[in-house]
Formats: sequence, C-alpha cells, structure tokens
Amino acid sequence: MDRYEIVGGRRLEGELQIQGAKNSVLPILAATVLVEGRCTIHNCPALSDTALTVQILQTLGCRAGGERGSITVDTTDLSCQELSEALTGKMRSSIVFLGPLLARCGQVKIAYPGGCRLGPRPIDLHLQGLRQMGAIVQERQQDLLCCAPKKLRGAKISLPFPSVGATENLMMAAVLAKGKTTLCQAAREPEIVDLAGFLNRCGAKIRGAGSGVIEVEGVRKLQGCEYTVMGDRIAAATYLAAAVITGGETSIWGADPRNLLRMLTLLQKSGSQIRWEKNWIFLKSNGQIRAFPPIETAPYPGFPTDGLPLFLSLAATAQGESRFVENIFENRYSSMAGLQKMGAQIRREGRVALVEGVKQLHGAKVCAEDLRGGAGLVLAALAAEGPSQVEGIQWIERGYEHFSRNLAALGAKISKQ
Ligand code: UD1
Repeated sequence: MDRYEIVGGRRLEGELQIQGAKNSVLPILAATVLVEGRCTIHNCPALSDTALTVQILQTLGCRAGGERGSITVDTTDLSCQELSEALTGKMRSSIVFLGPLLARCGQVKIAYPGGCRLGPRPIDLHLQGLRQMGAIVQERQQDLLCCAPKKLRGAKISLPFPSVGATENLMMAAVLAKGKTTLCQAAREPEIVDLAGFLNRCGAKIRGAGSGVIEVEGVRKLQGCEYTVMGDRIAAATYLAAAVITGGETSIWGADPRNLLRMLTLLQKSGSQIRWEKNWIFLKSNGQIRAFPPIETAPYPGFPTDGLPLFLSLAATAQGESRFVENIFENRYSSMAGLQKMGAQIRREGRVALVEGVKQLHGAKVCAEDLRGGAGLVLAALAAEGPSQVEGIQWIERGYEHFSRNLAALGAKISKQ
C-alpha cells in the first residue's frame, strides 16, 4: 500500500498552477452523454476518479480518451444504459450519470454508488426530482431502474436542501426535457455554474446557475463543443493552507479567488497576508496562526465542508481555541485520531469540535480515511517535528493531482513510497 513519508518543519515557498476542479470535471464528463457528437474538455485533472469516469463513458459505448489534461468524448455510438456495481461502487459521483443517461436514452439501470466514507449519502432528492419530471423509478435491492417512456417533461422542483449532486442531475435531465424546469433552493456552488457554462456552450438554455433558482428551457438537441474546466478551489485552499502551516509563502495560479472567499477571509483573520486578483492568489504567513472565529460548514457561499479538515489541522497549531460545527456530512472528522496522535488537542461532541492549538505537533504514523481528511493529515505532517508516515493515500490521490510532487516542488520533504 502506498504511503507518504514526510519530514516536517520545512517552510514552503513558490508558485503553483492549480489543477482543474475534480467536482466540475466529473459532472461535465457525464454531461457529454447529453450531446450527440464530440466534446473536448480541457484542464481535466489526472485523477483516478477522472480515469474511472472515462472508463464509464467507454463502457457506455462512447469513444473517450485523451492526454495532457484534454479529454475528448464522442457519444455517437453510445449504446448501453447500464452501469454495474464494478464501476459505480468505486465512486459516489457516478450517480451524476443518472440524469444525462435517462434524458438521452429514456431508460437507465445503475448500481448504487460507492465512494468516500463520509457517512450515509442518500440520493432521495435526485430521485424525487426525476419522478416530478415524469420518470418511473424502481429502487431495487442492488440497483436502480429508471425510465421515462414519454420523455422527461419540465417541472417546478423545490429541493428541501440545496444538494450539489441533485442539482447537477436535475439540471442535466432538464436540458433535454419537454418544456421548462425550475429548480428552487438549488445548490449555488461554483461547480454548478461551471457545469451550466458547459451545457449552455453546447446549446442548452440554462439561466440562474449560481443563484438559488435555476431555470432550464428544454431543447431538442445539444451540439459538441470545447470547454475548459475551472480551477479547483479546494485544492487551491489546500496549498494555501500548506504555506500557512509551515510559515511560508506561495502564489497560486488558475483558481478564481471569488470561489474561496470565505476561506481566504478566515486565513487573513488568523494572521496571513493575502492578495488576490483574477485567477491569482498570493499568501504569506509569518508562522503564527491565531485561532479562527467559529467555523460552521454550510452550502455555498458558506464555509465548504470539504475545507473543514484543512482548517482543523491549521487550528491544531494555532494560538487559542477554535470551534467547528459540521452540518453536511457525519464523518467529516476522520482526521481527528491521526491529528491527536501527532499531539493535537481536539475534543469532539457530535457535529462540534473544539481545537486547542498546541505549539508544536510531532511526527507520527497516521492513516488517511477519506480525501480531505487525508489532505489535513498531510498538512499537519508538514508542520510536525520529525518524520511522519501517511498511509491510505489512495484516498488523497482521488482528489489531488501530483500532490506529493507539487508539495516537494514548494520545498516540502515528502516522498511517495
Ligand atoms: C458534492 C461534492 C463534495 C462536497 C459536497 C458538499 C462532488 C463530486 N462532490 O457531494 O465534495 O463535499 O458536494 O459540498 O461534487 N443529501 C440527501 N439526499 C440526497 C442528496 C444529498 O439527503 O438526495 C444530503 C447528503 O447526505 C449530505 C448533503 O445532502 O448530507 C449534501 O450532499 P450533496 O450536496 O448532494 O453532496 P454531493 O453532491 O454528494
């Protein structure tokens, strides 16, 4: 099993071009299914989840592949509407194929998705919305069978919670539906705006993405296009946090700072100097982190749940006590045991964690249990005194392209074994 060997205490310094956003590229690649023809998607991060999505497209009969970050998908020969457990079990976001396949083919059989261990991740909101659009959904023991014998039709759908995945699935399904769909209490994440940008470039008629109300006027057909995926805001935050926790400085290119304002503001409040312009963020830390004001995760534009484990590690070395409340996923504190092993003082009660910063963490052998928790452990190891081993890095590499190589280029002592 691969692991990172890290010797902490090196100040990180330098520039980095940020990868394309994982949470954009997966739905955008799935959305190519809606297009009869060829699309080329640029800035695709080289991640295992991207490769798996390409494999799913190939299984469906599409021609899909590419190199150096550009993936071309030709759906002309799409012939299959079934996704087996062997594919969906590896990646929760495989559920984003549900809406596009149903819209394009009129039926789909899909095994229940797997993925990160963040606690129960139901798909009831996806199914409820599709039913409102006229889909017949059978939830069977092993798989879902959905069909829309008379084509999907537009509907007014109010999501009880702004789920990112449900918003994506319903937006994609609505693009080829008959008539107009209005999605109320839609998710407002930047990745939703990116997906809508791609679909509109293909000829879809989507308005309001990025706000709580999205309107989609169904069209008969989409045509192929070229599209560049946005920069990854969580990866950007991770490298910034690496500079903060090591008292370093870094320039990040390729991520829109407006997409991570909440995190940037908190980093400023805790003592880092930050400047930003379009697509560029500069951060300088003096090695002293002040405790954060209370952090509570919420749908965008609130503090992102994916950022919590990063800030948990920063708080572990801050001066004073920081308080966290996780409102989205049950198992978000997966890095806590590892951090404690490194000397962090964390008390948790349910959704709330209190972190009393310590002067110095010490190296330890720890294990990543999910993507962002794993990144949090790497951050802590970069700041810790002495060597650490981070195991379970297959979780981390689902979301970070060339993670250890990038950190090493910034001056970290890290190697992959
Ligand atoms: C996406 C992101 C993930 C991020 C999350 C929240 C991708 C590939 N993943 O995940 O990195 O952490 O948004 O920003 O884009 N829920 C239901 N029923 C549903 C759907 C969701 O109860 O049908 C609940 C979930 O259990 C969870 C909450 O809603 O508690 C948020 O889920 P959702 O916004 O759907 O997240 P994902 O799309 O899975």
